Amino acid sequence: MYDLIQRPRRLRRTEGIRRLIRENYVHVDDLIYPIFITHGENIKSEISSLPGNYHWSVDRVLEEVAEIVELRIPGILLFGVPDAKDEIGSAAWAEDGIVQQACQKIKEKYPNLLVITDVCLCQYTDHGHCGRLTKEGEVDNDSTLELLAKTALSHVLAGADMVAPSDMMDGRIAAIRKKLDKNGFSHIPILSYAVKYASNFYGPFRNAAHSAPKQGDRRSYQMDPPNIQEALREARLDVKEGADILMVKPGLAYLDVVKALADNFDLPIACYNVSGEYAMVKAAAEKGWIDEKNVIMEMMVSMKRAGADIIITYFAKEVAKLLQS
Ligand code: PBG
Repeated sequence: MYDLIQRPRRLRRTEGIRRLIRENYVHVDDLIYPIFITHGENIKSEISSLPGNYHWSVDRVLEEVAEIVELRIPGILLFGVPDAKDEIGSAAWAEDGIVQQACQKIKEKYPNLLVITDVCLCQYTDHGHCGRLTKEGEVDNDSTLELLAKTALSHVLAGADMVAPSDMMDGRIAAIRKKLDKNGFSHIPILSYAVKYASNFYGPFRNAAHSAPKQGDRRSYQMDPPNIQEALREARLDVKEGADILMVKPGLAYLDVVKALADNFDLPIACYNVSGEYAMVKAAAEKGWIDEKNVIMEMMVSMKRAGADIIITYFAKEVAKLLQS
């Protein structure tokens, strides 16, 4: 016998004690599920890089939404995968665009479901960048802002409850806020992808959304992975410009950033458990190398422990089911 006064293991001995002192929980109310809307008709097509997730045409998307509502997941995040692309991404703000149509359809049937839209141009531009290009091929910040603001407004006019700009242009929160306010939508919140890194974890998404840049990469607008001071600066600017929720993206490799934001800001913090994080789990599970369900739940609670209030995840449906069982 050692003379140990403190023995932390005493509080780990039974499930009853572990439950009693558990510090963090995942709740279905924390979850947002991303949905990909594609052009065409009668389409439900599995995304090979995101198994268990689908491209939905507008006419069939309610099948997916019904399941979300049934599982009591509070919200969805809509992404458009259009066929029409041009230099400036004009399909992004088309009144009859696929995301706009989907918003209308979903809100009509499920007025209480929270519908958030991703606001970006990369799926809509023929060059695949998140903004308008200069003659020299650089992403031009200021002339992109109006296009983003128009896109956000078109989503809200179609019924979106919240908009989530993911482009990483400087000043876009202010531009969107101003546009929404001027058009009578001062009550619509902005979920800012405030701290979005130029990450290699987006690969499966770009595959799904056909949104990889044709030339170059996104490092002149998305953040450099080694930086965290800059994350605080980005977040501070977005708060000043009118952001209502601050997001960190990706999730798992950036939980220190989630924690830093949670410690420094009093707005709700969202964490995007991105496509690469999902795909890695699916691939390892398929090989039988990990226990998928337990790994998923451990990932979710890690984001909560870091300080995330909201988790955007392709696992949302699976998590909701696991929480029920
Ligand atoms: C659009 C956008 C991307 C993601 C969300 N919005 C891709 C990118 O920035 O290249 C990635 C989501 C994911 O990987 O799950 N700008």
